[in-house]
Amino acid sequence: MNYEAVYKRSIQDRDAFWHEQAARIEWHKPHEQVCDHSSPPFTKWFAGGQTNLCHNAVDRHVPHRPDQPALIFVSTETGTEQIISYGQLFVEVQRMAAILRNMGVGKGDRVLIYMPMIPQAVIAMLATVRLGAIHSVVFGGFASHSLASRIDDARPKVVVSADAGSRGGKVIAYKPLLDEALTLSQHKVEHVLMVNRGLVPCVMVPNRDVDYASVRQDVLDAIVPCEWVDATHPSYTLYTSGTTGKPKGVQRDTGGYAVALAASMDHIYCGKPGETFFCASDIGWVVGHSYIVYGPLLTGMSTIIYEGLPIRPDAAIWWLLVEKYQVNVMFSAPTAIRVLRKQDPQCLKRHNLSSLKHLFLAGEPLDEPTARWIGDAIGKPIVDNYWQTETGWPILSLARGIDPSAQPRLGSPGVPMLGYQVKLLDDLTGEELTQPNQKGVLTIEGPLPPGCMQTVWGDDERFVKTYWRSFKNKEVYNTFDWGIRDEDGYYFILGRTDDVINVAGHRLGTREIEEAVSSHSAVAEVAVVGVADEVKGQVARAFVVPRDASRVADEPGRRALEAEIMQTVDRQLGAVARPARVYFVNVLPKTRSGKLLRRAIQAVCEGRETGDLTTIEDPSALQQLQDAVKH
Ligand code: PRX
Repeated sequence: MNYEAVYKRSIQDRDAFWHEQAARIEWHKPHEQVCDHSSPPFTKWFAGGQTNLCHNAVDRHVPHRPDQPALIFVSTETGTEQIISYGQLFVEVQRMAAILRNMGVGKGDRVLIYMPMIPQAVIAMLATVRLGAIHSVVFGGFASHSLASRIDDARPKVVVSADAGSRGGKVIAYKPLLDEALTLSQHKVEHVLMVNRGLVPCVMVPNRDVDYASVRQDVLDAIVPCEWVDATHPSYTLYTSGTTGKPKGVQRDTGGYAVALAASMDHIYCGKPGETFFCASDIGWVVGHSYIVYGPLLTGMSTIIYEGLPIRPDAAIWWLLVEKYQVNVMFSAPTAIRVLRKQDPQCLKRHNLSSLKHLFLAGEPLDEPTARWIGDAIGKPIVDNYWQTETGWPILSLARGIDPSAQPRLGSPGVPMLGYQVKLLDDLTGEELTQPNQKGVLTIEGPLPPGCMQTVWGDDERFVKTYWRSFKNKEVYNTFDWGIRDEDGYYFILGRTDDVINVAGHRLGTREIEEAVSSHSAVAEVAVVGVADEVKGQVARAFVVPRDASRVADEPGRRALEAEIMQTVDRQLGAVARPARVYFVNVLPKTRSGKLLRRAIQAVCEGRETGDLTTIEDPSALQQLQDAVKH
């Protein structure tokens, strides 16, 4: 099929197109209207329709593929492999749903999931949506402050957690972080459901904490039917960073999300029922929600849940899994490939990869050398895809499920996916850039296609202001990414326009990190910027003005305070947000009106020209930065 024609139809004959796509899932009640955009920028997809995400991800497949693996759990951290068939998943999800229901969880209630990559995390997600409740998964790498602010915003009835995760052989206890978060938060959580893996001793709080294994015994025969919900009923919220320190709860609907994911699995990822999908991300991020859990299960595929690093026990582990489980489609992030590239190239030759059709990469820019290297090494098409927590599925990629001859262009994530009206706008005038090779802000004209965010949880105004009015007061969806389009319509992404940084494919807000650093009593002022890094894409660096300069007068003093500040960030936000370096200066470069010159700081760190600095208040500030970085 011709991609151009299908894309055009998805825009010009929008409702007919998505009406057809809606047939990919099962409905309890069909929709009355495909797209209600009567109150922009809000969009209601498949209004009047009723369905359930868990029904479509689990129940519906049970008659056709009861014994096929649904979840293939592999932990190279604990040496565990476990296969859960669709039939078994159906039973386990109902048990979990019964436990949650017994704790009072019903339609619209929130369940916060703070867990490592274990099957119970996925089961908890499915059980939550089964009840018509709303899950909010918090990445296991986040620590107590991050967790507490999400608990206060989501106000969950129940938190589902585990004693510990493990990374690179190091056990990370979750329970103490959760306990601290529950003390810090204003919102009082009624029940904590604990999956005890036996990795660390776990102190249970009476009348609050419940052991999953024991209560599961009481509900072995549970039958919990799916709660039919409106297509527009929220299925989950997922917090993501933006310009301010306070993360936003991206709220997703039910029907539109199910339809969009099912369509993307076919059109983009070329995944077929009965095949195996291996997405090496984490359920705490949007990639995990869409392509570890819902996308593959909605399609009736087997999905691999992998706890571990790509290089342990050695750099062949992924390819071993591809061979062993006959993986057909793989999905990862460029950082992981750059990590593999540093290892023994023979690792890539050890296993038979004949089952694999494609490797998809997303989350951060895919540089040409990395794309070329992995493409040559595994001999499969490498397909980049660009999207955001907000959109839930790719904005730009290649629709090889529609046109298998579509060829990746190095350095470009591809072309607009179905339903996305992508526009580049001039940064200064706000006018659309129609000529090739002009740099502008990447925006999307409303309505956004199904599957994208409905609103910011509990804050419609923030949704409108942040995404739809932030660019020259024009009503377009702002991605906050710079982009460029070539003569053939391929887009290139040139980084964020705001203060968000991307470390190893993890999206972090520099403001959040600054707030954590500032909470250390020795810190008077701080600026955090993202700096280019060979492996991780970017890393955070912090520039701190100490309250007492004598503390950092010598190298041991500087090292000691740097370590303390890093620990503060670890404790509050998690190691994922820890700056790679902390430098000490007397003054930060600011404009005369007191605005931090972040771009200039970043330029100094990357050894680039700082550009026009006529507004700088204290020109010596830059020299200090340069000296600090040099040391
Ligand atoms: O800056 C873009 C970058 O990651 C941001 C979104 O991150 P997150 O919300 O975590 O969602 C990731 C979903 C894959 C974007 O605003 N980004 C994501 N994918 C790419 C990318 N930058 C360049 N190329 C990509 N393929």
